[in-house]
Amino acid sequence: MQLDVFTLIPQAFAWLTEQRPVAAVLGDELDLRLFSYRDYTPLSGSQVDDEPYGGGAGMVLRVDVVAAALEAAYGGSPAHRVVALTPQGRQLTQEVVEELAGEERLTLLSARFEGFDERVLAHLASDSISIGPYVLSGGELPAMVLVDAIARRLPGALGSAESGLVESFSAELEGGLEYPHYTRPANFRGWPVPAVLLSGDHAKIDEWRRRQSRLRTAG
Ligand SMILES: C[S@@+](CC[C@H](N)C(=O)[O-])C[C@H]1O[C@@H](n2cnc3c(N)ncnc32)[C@H](O)[C@@H]1O
Repeated sequence: MQLDVFTLIPQAFAWLTEQRPVAAVLGDELDLRLFSYRDYTPLSGSQVDDEPYGGGAGMVLRVDVVAAALEAAYGGSPAHRVVALTPQGRQLTQEVVEELAGEERLTLLSARFEGFDERVLAHLASDSISIGPYVLSGGELPAMVLVDAIARRLPGALGSAESGLVESFSAELEGGLEYPHYTRPANFRGWPVPAVLLSGDHAKIDEWRRRQSRLRTAG
């Protein structure tokens, strides 16, 4: 998958690319490219933002700057999906992640300041996604959330045991496989690990985990 991220802070992604699961699929199943709006701005002095028409607080990421960056990367309008990250977008769920991970090429647009000039959303992006009903200062964290969640769904991202489990449960669980985890000690301060996990009976353990997953995702 080719995953392109347009951002004002490409260096913010450095740590993400060094960690699993992204590091495990980089250069193989995942071709992650970072584009800085400032590298392509047609404006002088690396300008990318401007005051809003009609006045008001904050600066707005200019539509001509975003268009120039897309033009430089694709030589025209991209034929593939271009997702803008906005607090008002479609809420991110595991179902949305699965959908995005199925794309061969995907572009993520992030903004800062007061966000995008509305024409970016109307004419340059195909759709918009929010990572939750709250407002962050920029689209870098939302983009990283998406890159991480998508990378986990690519072949080879997870260890074989974990990935097998996720595959077998993901169709049934909108939130992905999610059950309680325990490790040693088996009893700490009188807080015991559920006995089934110590039983060595993998059929029973699987059944218990499925039940726990359903309980968690039910609400
Ligand atoms: C300070 S926010 C913009 C707030 C702006 N008033 C609005 O409501 O769109 C700056 C940028 O951060 C990103 N952002 C902030 N919160 C987000 C969220 N929950 N999901 C996705 N992107 C978000 C978007 O790229 C947004 O344009």
